[in-house]
Amino acid sequence: MILRWGKVAGTAFLVPLLLLPTRAGAQTLPTVEDCVSCHLELDDDRLVDPVRTYGEDVHAAAGFGCLACHGGGGEHLDPAAGFLSAPLRSRIPEMCGRCHSDGAFMRQFNPQLRVDQVPEYWTSVHGQRLRDLDDPDVATCVDCHPAHRILPPSNPASTVYAANVPETCGRCHADPDHMAGRDVATDQVDKYYGSVHGKLLTEDEDLSAPVCNDCHGNHGAAPPGLTSVRNVCGQCHSVMGDYFDQSGHVEIFRENGLPGCATCHDHHAIQPVDEASLGDRSVEVCMRCHEEGDSAGSAFDTMAGVLDSLEWEVSEAEGILLDAEDRGMEVSQALFELEDVTNAQTHARSAIHTFKVDPVRTEAQAGFVITDRARDRGVAALAEYDFRRMGLGLAAGIILLLVMTLLFKIREADARIAELLAMIGGFFDTTMGASGGMPPTHEAMRLAACGILLEATYVDDSFSDEERGHLIELIRTRYGLVRSEADELIALVQAQRSGPVELGRLADLVSRHYSESERRALVKELWGLVYSDGVLTEREVSFMSQVAKLLHVGTEEVAATRREVEAG
Ligand code: HEC
Ligand code: HEC
Ligand code: HEC
Ligand code: HEC
Ligand code: HEC
Ligand code: HEC
Ligand code: HEC
Ligand code: HEC
Ligand code: HEC
Repeated sequence: MILRWGKVAGTAFLVPLLLLPTRAGAQTLPTVEDCVSCHLELDDDRLVDPVRTYGEDVHAAAGFGCLACHGGGGEHLDPAAGFLSAPLRSRIPEMCGRCHSDGAFMRQFNPQLRVDQVPEYWTSVHGQRLRDLDDPDVATCVDCHPAHRILPPSNPASTVYAANVPETCGRCHADPDHMAGRDVATDQVDKYYGSVHGKLLTEDEDLSAPVCNDCHGNHGAAPPGLTSVRNVCGQCHSVMGDYFDQSGHVEIFRENGLPGCATCHDHHAIQPVDEASLGDRSVEVCMRCHEEGDSAGSAFDTMAGVLDSLEWEVSEAEGILLDAEDRGMEVSQALFELEDVTNAQTHARSAIHTFKVDPVRTEAQAGFVITDRARDRGVAALAEYDFRRMGLGLAAGIILLLVMTLLFKIREADARIAELLAMIGGFFDTTMGASGGMPPTHEAMRLAACGILLEATYVDDSFSDEERGHLIELIRTRYGLVRSEADELIALVQAQRSGPVELGRLADLVSRHYSESERRALVKELWGLVYSDGVLTEREVSFMSQVAKLLHVGTEEVAATRREVEAG
C-alpha cells in the first residue's frame, strides 16, 4: 500500500498509524520533502515553524534532512525503529552528541570543529541539574541553538554570535519568572551591559570584549571558582594576571574566600578604571587582612597617590597645551607626544597588581618625564603668545604712534626706511581692525610700545645691518640716546628675539627718552594724522585718549590740540 504523504489532517496517532504499513513491507521511505510539505499544511505553529526555518539551518546546508536528528536507527518514522519525535529535554544532548561527539564523523564535514560540547555540557550547572534533578528550566543544547535554525557562531544572525550571547543567556537569566524560587540573581545581563566590557561590545561593536561564554565557557557554564577567576580574566588581561601571581596573594585570597580580580573589580559590573572608585574599594580589600597603618596596608594608599599625581600632571600639562592651542600657538606635536603617557599609566596601573609600591613608581616615572616635557612646551608657547599679543594685538595703536613718530622725525631718512615704515603703517590698519579697538591699559601700551619700536628695526629681512644701524642711529640722535643706551637697545632687541622679553627694562628705556614737549608735539601730530580724512571715528577718539594717557599728556591739552587740528 502506497502511503499518501500529502494532505492528511493532524491527529495524535497519525504518524505511528501511517508507519504501520511501511513496517508491513512497503519500502517507500519518507523524504525531507514529505515532512516539509505535510507539515507546512498543518495549522499548529509549533508543528509548522520547524519546517519554515530549517532551510537556513547549518545542518540543512550540510545536506542533512529531518531524519538526521529525528531518525533513530534508520530512516523510519517508527518510534520502535528509533524515530525520535520531539525528544525529551533530557535526551537532547545525546541526540546532538550522536554526531558531535563522533570525531571521525565530524572530521568529514568540518575538521576544525571541537567535539567536546556534550561532555563539557554535562560538567556545567545546566547539565548537572538536568541529569541529577531533571530540572526543566536549565538550558539544553536547543535553548542556546534553536533546534531548527542552528547557525554557526560566526554568523551574525546566530543566537551564539558573540554580540547576541547576552540576549541568549538573558532569556532565562534576566527573567525573574523563569528563575523564580532559585538562589541565583537575575541581574547579570543588566550589570554586564553597564560594564566596560558590555559597552565595548554594544557601543563600540568591538568583538574583543568578553561576553558570557568567554568567562563561563561555551558549554561548561558554571561560575568560575575562586582560583579560576584570575585565569578567566587573565585570558585577556595576562599582564595583570602575571603581576597578581607575583604578589603571592593569589593563594592567600583563595584561602580567605576572596574571588581574585573580582574582589576589587566585581565580575559583571566591571567599570572602566577612571569611573570606578577602585582606590577605596581596594583599600577596604587590604584592610580585610592588614591593619590600618601597617606597611602593607598603607602600600595601596601610596600607590594610589602615585597614580593620582600622574593623572593630575597629565591634565595640568594638557590644560596648558590646549590653552596655547586655543590661542593659535602651534603645539600639536607636544599634544601628540603627551598621548604617550597613557602607556606609562597603563603600565603603572598594571603594576598595582603586585601590591608593591616600587614597581608602580618605576612605571609611573616614564610618565612624569613626558608630562614635565609637555608642560614646559606649553608654558613656553604661552609666553611667546603673551609677547606676540602685547606686540601685535593689544597695542596696535602704539604701532601707529611709533611709526608716525619715526616718520615725522626722520623724514630725511632714506627711501628704504620710509618704505619700511609705510609697511608697518599698513599692518596697523589690519590689526587695528582685528583688535576691534580693544582698550589697552596704560602700562601695557607703554611696554608694548617699546617692544614694537625695537621690533621695527627687524621687521624686514632685507633690511641690512647697515641700514638698521642707520635707523638706530636716527632714533639715538632724535631721543638723545647715548651710545651705551643704543647698544642696550640693540641688545634688548636681540634678547627679545631669542628669549622672554624683559618688558620692565624696555619700559624704563622709553620713558627715559621722551621729553614732555616731545610727547605733546606727538599728540598733536597724531591728531593731524587720524583727522587727515576729515572724519573722527569713536575708535580714533578712544585711541587718542589712550595715547594721551600713555604719554602722560593731560585731557585738557589733548582737547586743545584736537581743536587746533580741526580748525585748520
Ligand atoms: C502526512 C503528514 C506528515 C508527514 C509526512 C510528517 N508528519 Fe510529522 N506530524 C504530522 C502531524 C499531523 C503531527 C502532529 C501529531 C500530533 O499532534 O501528535 C506531526 C508531528 C510531528 C512531530 C512532533 C510530535 C510532537 O507532538 O511533539 C515531529 C517531531 C514530527 N512530526 C516530525 C516529522 C518528520 C521528521 C517527518 C518527516 C520524516 C514528518 N514529521 C512527516 C504530520 C506529518
Ligand atoms: C539538528 C537536529 C534536528 C533536525 C535536523 C530537525 N529537528 Fe525537529 N526537533 C529537534 C529537537 C531537538 C526537537 C525538540 C525541541 C525542543 O524540545 O524544544 C525537535 C522538535 C521538532 C518538532 C516539535 C516542535 C515542538 O516545539 O514541539 C517538530 C514538529 C519537528 N522537530 C520537526 C522537524 C522537521 C519537519 C524537521 C526537518 C525539516 C526537523 N524537525 C529537523 C531536532 C531536530
Ligand atoms: C547527523 C549528525 C548531526 C546531528 C544529529 C547534529 N549535528 Fe550539528 N552539525 C553536524 C555537522 C556535520 C556539522 C558541520 C556542518 C558544516 O560545518 O558544514 C554541524 C554543525 C553544527 C553547528 C555549527 C558549528 C560551526 O561552528 O559551524 C552547531 C552549532 C551544531 N551543529 C549544533 C547542533 C546541535 C545543537 C545539535 C542537536 C540539536 C546538532 N548539532 C545535531 C552534524 C550533526
Ligand atoms: C548555555 C548555552 C549553550 C548550550 C546549553 C549549548 N551551547 Fe553550544 N555553543 C554555545 C555558544 C555560546 C557557542 C559559541 C562559541 C563560540 O563563540 O565559539 C556554542 C558553540 C557550539 C558549537 C560550535 C563549536 C564550538 O564548540 O564552539 C557546537 C557544535 C555546539 N555549540 C553544540 C552544542 C551541543 C551539542 C550542545 C548540547 C550538548 C550545546 N552546544 C549546548 C552555547 C551553548
Ligand atoms: C533555558 C534557560 C537558560 C539559559 C538559556 C541559560 N541558562 Fe544558565 N541557568 C539556568 C538555570 C535554570 C540555572 C540553574 C540555577 C540554579 O538553580 O542554580 C542556570 C545556571 C547557570 C549558572 C550557574 C549559576 C550558579 O550560581 O550555580 C551559570 C554560570 C549559568 N547558568 C550561565 C549561563 C550562561 C553563560 C548562559 C548563556 C551562554 C546561560 N546560562 C543560559 C537557565 C538558563
Ligand atoms: C568578565 C567575565 C564574565 C562575564 C563576561 C560574565 N560573567 Fe558571569 N560570572 C563571572 C564570575 C567571575 C562569576 C563568579 C563570581 C564570584 O564567584 O564571586 C560569575 C558568576 C555568574 C553567575 C552566578 C550568579 C552570580 O550572579 O554570581 C551567573 C548566573 C552568571 N555569572 C551569568 C552570566 C551571564 C548570563 C553573563 C552574560 C550576560 C555573564 N555571566 C557574563 C564572570 C563573568
Ligand atoms: C586589590 C584590588 C585589585 C585586585 C585584586 C585586582 N585589581 Fe585590577 N586594578 C585595581 C586598581 C586599584 C586599578 C587601577 C585603578 C586606577 O588607576 O584608578 C586596577 C586596574 C586594572 C585594570 C586597568 C589597567 C589599565 O589598563 O588601566 C585592569 C584591566 C585590571 N585592573 C584587571 C585586573 C585583573 C585581571 C585582576 C586579577 C588578575 C585584577 N585587576 C585584580 C585593583 C585591583
Ligand atoms: C575575552 C577577553 C576579556 C576577558 C576574559 C576579560 N576582559 Fe576585561 N577587558 C577586555 C577588553 C578588550 C577591554 C577593553 C580594552 C582594555 O582596556 O584593555 C577590557 C577592559 C577591562 C577593564 C577596564 C580597563 C580600563 O582601562 O578602564 C577592566 C577593569 C577589566 N577589563 C577587568 C576584567 C576582569 C576583572 C575580568 C575577569 C572577571 C576581565 N576583565 C575579563 C577583555 C577581556
Ligand atoms: C586575604 C588576606 C589579604 C588581603 C586581602 C591582602 N593581603 Fe597583603 N598579605 C597577606 C598575608 C597573609 C601576607 C603575608 C604576611 C607576612 O608574610 O607577613 C601579606 C603580605 C603583604 C605584603 C608584604 C609584607 C609586608 O608587610 O610588606 C604587602 C606589601 C601586602 N601584603 C600588601 C597588600 C595590599 C596592598 C593589599 C590590598 C590590595 C593586600 N596586601 C591585601 C594577606 C592579605
